[in-house]
Amino acid sequence: MPDMPRLAAGNWKMHGLAADLAEARELAATPPPQGVEVLICPPATLIARMAGALAGSGLRVGGQDCHAAAKGAHTGDISAAMLSDAGATHVILGHSERRADHGESSAEVVAKARAAWAAGLVAIVCIGETEAERAAGATLEVVAAQLEHSLPRGATAANAVVAYEPVWAIGSGRTPGAREIAQVHAFLRGQLPDRGIRLLYGGSVKPDNADTIFAIPEVDGALVGGASLKAADFGAIIAALGRN
Ligand code: PGA
Repeated sequence: MPDMPRLAAGNWKMHGLAADLAEARELAATPPPQGVEVLICPPATLIARMAGALAGSGLRVGGQDCHAAAKGAHTGDISAAMLSDAGATHVILGHSERRADHGESSAEVVAKARAAWAAGLVAIVCIGETEAERAAGATLEVVAAQLEHSLPRGATAANAVVAYEPVWAIGSGRTPGAREIAQVHAFLRGQLPDRGIRLLYGGSVKPDNADTIFAIPEVDGALVGGASLKAADFGAIIAALGRN
């Protein structure tokens, strides 16, 4: 298989109303650099409109979660087929905020990833250690276990992406040092069932640290929260991915 493009994925979390589609339109006005794929994961209410706003630009749209079942009596939930039907091509699964807020287990993440595949979506599976786990020197052990238990058998470069997001780095403005990110990514690469699966770094990626992070070996892109909400910031991060 040819090398996969590097991936800049924006996670809007619970931010975004119709007026914010202007940011996506502004971003879509500049084609992504060669070899870089761009994805925006807005709240579910905006997926279809985002897909419309990005039509023809090559930028892709994703969901932030899906239910493990194909359909059924699950009030308030969204199936993978519904995401796809609305125009999504990817779905973020097992984000630490979902693991914390909704008690989502790695076993549930596996089931959701299978559901995503059944609907033809790429699963972006998130893993990462807490600050206490890092302080205890358990980072590699924790991420290895999360990866093993969150990524279903059958994961390939075409159907899965792994995002390494230290929980303490998310939304905090703090990031691990480049050597620490390099160590975790090199370790995770060796644990992947398919070495071509893209490994994203996530957690306080900003325009001013993007060059440093993207120059780290084994970093295939980023999952970006806060800095993906504004076209100027996310555009600068995408440009950094293109030049590193
Ligand atoms: P952040 O979020 O970039 O705002 O730290 C990253 C994420 O949670 O995916």
